[in-house]
Amino acid sequence: MDYTKVKLPTHVAIIVDGNGRWATNQGLNRSAGHKEGFLNLKKLTKYIFNKGVSYISAYLFSTENFKRSKVEVAYIMNLLTDKLNEILEFCHEEKIKAVFSGRVTHMSDKVIKTMEKLTEETKNYEGKTFNICFGYGSHAEIIDATKKIVNDVNNNVLNINEIDESIFNRYLYQELPPIDLLIRTGGEQRLSNFMLWQLSYAELYFTKTYFPDFKEEDFDKAIYEYSSRDRRFGGINYED
Ligand code: IPE
Ligand code: IPE
Ligand code: MG
Repeated sequence: MDYTKVKLPTHVAIIVDGNGRWATNQGLNRSAGHKEGFLNLKKLTKYIFNKGVSYISAYLFSTENFKRSKVEVAYIMNLLTDKLNEILEFCHEEKIKAVFSGRVTHMSDKVIKTMEKLTEETKNYEGKTFNICFGYGSHAEIIDATKKIVNDVNNNVLNINEIDESIFNRYLYQELPPIDLLIRTGGEQRLSNFMLWQLSYAELYFTKTYFPDFKEEDFDKAIYEYSSRDRRFGGINYED
């Protein structure tokens, strides 16, 4: 696809879904699906950034996913720590700044240290920001932001009358531009507690394809569709 002829989103978010079903369909255990999803995410991330997108938010583990079996949760947590060197090498090669969104309350010290190392080592890269939503829940994020705001108001760091949309955005886990395009793989048409604030005017794109099978050409299709959408933001495009 000719990327010079399409409207490109600044911030793309992906709900990485369908790993488990992809594996089950192949007669593999669910963990094999997460491993395959990880490999695909790396390839896809490289492709998306190189097409000119500046921000990618990937939903990899939700606050609700702790309800899953101990084995599955441990596998996903270990994936991050086991692949740390590979992820670091990838970020350095591609000059990607990695940031995290989520609550670390139920995470092990090992996982927390991994996140800190990744963030610290890539913090000076500019232009490509990869927001890893891990242990993320949008309700938790909004509550955490509210608590930080109340704290700052109580300590006279923030005046209550100053609070507006852009100030509130600053108190979220990461201060990022709004999401332009949300892609959810795996067939479900819901948000599953993802980025309720940041998605307020995003274009939504749902596909039945399981994430490990969602390739570069599938992303092209999503961009093509996005590019044809008329984003009005409540106004009217009078030239149409
Ligand atoms: C991967 O997809 C993303 C996570 C929630 C960890 P799933 O593990 O939800 O796969 P399905 O939806 O059961 O197929
Ligand atoms: C959403 O997928 C969370 C992530 C992709 C990390 P789920 O598989 O957990 O969502 P539901 O259960 O179908 O809503
Ligand atoms: Mg799922």
